[in-house]
Amino acid sequence: MKQIREAWKTAVAAGIADILREKGLDAGMATSSAIVSETPPKPDMGDIGFPMFAWSKPLRMGPPQIALLLADKLAAADTPAGTPKAIGPYLNVFLDRVSTSAEVMASVAGEGYGKSSSLAGTRIMIEFSSPNTNKPLHLGHLRNDVLGESTSRILKENGAEVLKINLVNDRGVHICKSMLSYMAYGGGRTPEDEGKKPDHFVGDYYVKFNDLKKADPQAEEKAQEMLVKWEASDPEVMDLWKRMNEWAVGGIRKTYERTGISFDKYYFESQIYLTGKEEVLKGLENGAFFKAEDGSVRIDLSPLGLEEKVLLRKDGTSIYMTQDIGLAIHRHHDWPFDRLVYVVANEQQYHFKVLFHILERLGYEWARNLFHLSYGMVNLPEGRMKTREGTVVDADALLESLKEIALEEIQAKGREEAMGDAAEIAEKIALGAVHYYLAQATPSKDMVFNPKDSLSFNGDTGPYIQYMGARISSLLRKRDKGEGKAPGGTVRPELLAGDAEWELVRRVAQYPEVVEQAGSEYNPALVAAHMYDLASAFSRYYHDNPILNCEDADTAASRLALVAAVRTVLVNGLGLLCIPFLEAM
Ligand code: ARG
Repeated sequence: MKQIREAWKTAVAAGIADILREKGLDAGMATSSAIVSETPPKPDMGDIGFPMFAWSKPLRMGPPQIALLLADKLAAADTPAGTPKAIGPYLNVFLDRVSTSAEVMASVAGEGYGKSSSLAGTRIMIEFSSPNTNKPLHLGHLRNDVLGESTSRILKENGAEVLKINLVNDRGVHICKSMLSYMAYGGGRTPEDEGKKPDHFVGDYYVKFNDLKKADPQAEEKAQEMLVKWEASDPEVMDLWKRMNEWAVGGIRKTYERTGISFDKYYFESQIYLTGKEEVLKGLENGAFFKAEDGSVRIDLSPLGLEEKVLLRKDGTSIYMTQDIGLAIHRHHDWPFDRLVYVVANEQQYHFKVLFHILERLGYEWARNLFHLSYGMVNLPEGRMKTREGTVVDADALLESLKEIALEEIQAKGREEAMGDAAEIAEKIALGAVHYYLAQATPSKDMVFNPKDSLSFNGDTGPYIQYMGARISSLLRKRDKGEGKAPGGTVRPELLAGDAEWELVRRVAQYPEVVEQAGSEYNPALVAAHMYDLASAFSRYYHDNPILNCEDADTAASRLALVAAVRTVLVNGLGLLCIPFLEAM
């Protein structure tokens, strides 16, 4: 699909160039990269669409007129396969359905349908999740994790070499608070003693710090003092810190395992929080930064239209920005990347804008290829899932509750027997529900997570798509057992050229382009939307047409091959989105 689209872009560009020349205008602007192409919404309007609006101004003609003129030109020219037609302000191309179906079916049958080499030779480091070790993961992390993991998989699918990294925030006064609280109330108990997941065990003490503050008005100061001791490597403090951090990180890793998230490398803030200082001092020497009257080191951000920013306090201590400057340089040294992506909430937009600017000012070439994959807040509809503080939704509890609801549904439908391990399937449905819901939202936008909606078997949800995948799998199992009215037919592409079949072929054909676009925009939501489009197109087709039980053997074989191709795209696409594919449900 991509090749044919590109070939048509070239042909359209040549046609427009001709028209420009005939009008005595500069034809240089009609390059194929200046040609925008779309996919017409309905197959009866064609398969590739070229809007003419942009050419209206230079040509001083209405877009429909240009489309007509261009259609004439192309009809006389030597063009790629397909038929051009002017349809309103568009020049649309109708592909030859039989040969295209044959090509699409052949390429889906090959290895790794959807892979491209558009990012081959590019090394991309991607940071995501980056939890704090004073509490377990929450709903916001689930959004971060699925964005980070899916984006990584999509980048790899496009041929990039990807290194997934996690920056664990394991130092600071918030960590000391859970430690103090444990010292006051923990009595030496361990998570095992209480049968608690260890990150929750630690998180509970963080919450209990509220009690400690009431009991001891000096608690906040004590936390500060403890941080000073930690920085001086006080053995007792270090000992407790290590113990509690192992609990927290161990528990968090369990959640990653459950959700299918993984990292190639962990960075711990405790090991790198001092790194930026030297870099800032170097920048002071070479004039990128300046020393303010109060003795602090600052950068002038007027090129960004912003106020100046402190990079080292007057007492010489670093701040969050200092650390990130050092860390980026350190990472490039560890693994020289072409690009570095930070998956971090949009609250930190200012931080990353300034960080990238500073690194450029320090003269790092690669600083131009840093990207903040900024995502919005996840809110809940008012109600029961809110935990403790009334604000945070715990990730483990959410997954558990989704799983329970899915299991109840399975039991209510009496499907337990048919499914084999119902609990395992419920778990996969829960993951499909949450990952799809979080991945389909435009990353930059705030969203509301509605647990009930996410689990619905109807509509734009993970379980709906999983269900369509399972339907197809079941059809194919039956085919393989020789069931159906007329088994054993031959696949014939001319039987896949009707409007209903073509609708599916076209969507299957578009998939690799969607993966490529999702990679170039760092946007898994594009893949998610395509999964839903394809699943719902299959559902309509299945509703309206016999597949396994066609009277004619070749028709049955061809339709089964078509839905098998749909299944391959669902398997591959859901895989990119961290959504388990279900053979039966
Ligand atoms: N741990 C931080 C937080 O809780 C996010 C870290 C973002 N990454 C970075 N390189 N600054 O918000």
